[in-house]
This record gives sequence, structure tokens and C-alpha cells, in this order.
Amino acid sequence: MIRKCQASDTRRIYFIINEAARAYDGIIPADRYHQPYMSMVELKKEMQRVTFFGWETNGEIIGVIGIEPVNDVTLIRHTYVLPGWQNQGIGSRLLSHLKTLLTTPCLLVGTWADAHWAVAFYRKHGFHLMPDKDKLLETYWDIPPRQVETSVVLGLNIRDGVKESP
Ligand SMILES: CC(C)(COP(=O)(O)OP(=O)(O)OC[C@H]1O[C@@H](n2cnc3c(N)ncnc32)[C@H](O)[C@@H]1OP(=O)(O)O)[C@@H](O)C(=O)NCCC(=O)NCCS
Repeated sequence: MIRKCQASDTRRIYFIINEAARAYDGIIPADRYHQPYMSMVELKKEMQRVTFFGWETNGEIIGVIGIEPVNDVTLIRHTYVLPGWQNQGIGSRLLSHLKTLLTTPCLLVGTWADAHWAVAFYRKHGFHLMPDKDKLLETYWDIPPRQVETSVVLGLNIRDGVKESP
């Protein structure tokens, strides 16, 4: 039920991201929230670097996750599940799938500091808040200073994860 997204999925990915991003309304700083949250132009640009995977139900994608290797780390980009389908394990399955594709031991994800549900989601999956988040955001992301200020980075070292396993 997980498949790699194609260019023909672009409109559906656009829909999912912008519907799911409504969760940010009133939560993240007002000057950073707008609808559409991600424009079509921006998404098409992202799709040139980021490989998206989708969770499909009855022939329709309802959740997406993106992966982007950058130098010595792998970034998780744009994890979004349609509002009516959240909290049913779809994000977790997408994340587990992404972990099978890693070519680096270190996995990083950036999100809004105020998006407590997203922070909880990644922590549940073994990620830790990174103390050097500003440096990481400046090194691996291309985002404006205001977004650096209001974001956090969570990281998971797969090797540590293996060490900690029983
Ligand atoms: C974050 C997101 C991708 C997770 O996908 P999901 O399919 O809902 O997540 P799962 O069902 O696999 O996992 C559920 C866990 O996620 C967290 N979570 C998801 N939705 C939550 C909510 N509304 N409130 C609090 N925690 C939530 C919790 O840790 C939950 O575990 P718990 O039930 O034991 O508390 C999805 O909720 C989403 O699209 N949210 C809006 C957009 C967003 O914040 N994206 C993240 C960008 S980095």
C-alpha cells in the first residue's frame, strides 16, 4: 500500500499537504501560516530534490512522506496525512518504510516548535530534539531566518537505535 509517487501524483500531493497543513492554523506563528501552505510552484521545485512515498487506500493516496539525502545525513521532508485519516498509524507506516531506504545512519526532520503533535509523533519513533538545531537548519535546510527561529530539529541515529535494541 506504500508506493513511490510520480509526477502524475503532484496534484494529489498538493491537496494532501495543504489540507493537512490546516492543523498549523492558529498554532504556528501567524506570519508563517497561509493557504495554500505550499504553492504548486514550490511543490514542483521540492519534487525535483525530494522523493515522495504515498500511502494508498482504495487507489487513492491519503498520506505522504518525502526523503532527501543531503551530504552525510538524510532529511525527512513533508510528512502529511489527510485530516480524516490521522492517528490511524499511516504516518508511522510511512516513516517505517522510509527507514528501510536509508543510505546514512543519521535521519533528521525539521518541524515547527509549536506543532506539538508532530514533535510527539517523531519522539514516539525514537527521535530526539537536537540541541544544535540552528546550526543544523542552516547547514541542511534552505529556509528563512524567521523559520529557523520558530523550528526545531529532531534526529535519529539508526546505529544508536540498533545498539539500544534488545
Ligand atoms: C504528524 C502526522 C504526519 C502523523 O501521521 P499520523 O498518521 O496521524 O500518525 P500515526 O497515527 O502513525 O501516529 C500517531 C502518533 O502521532 C502523534 N499524533 C498524531 N496526531 C496527533 C494529534 N492530533 N495530537 C497529538 N498527537 C498526535 C501522537 O504521538 C500519536 O501517538 P499516540 O496516539 O500514541 O499519542 C499527521 O498527524 C499530520 O499530517 N499532521 C498534520 C501535519 C503535520 O504536522 N505534519 C508534520 C510535518 S513535519
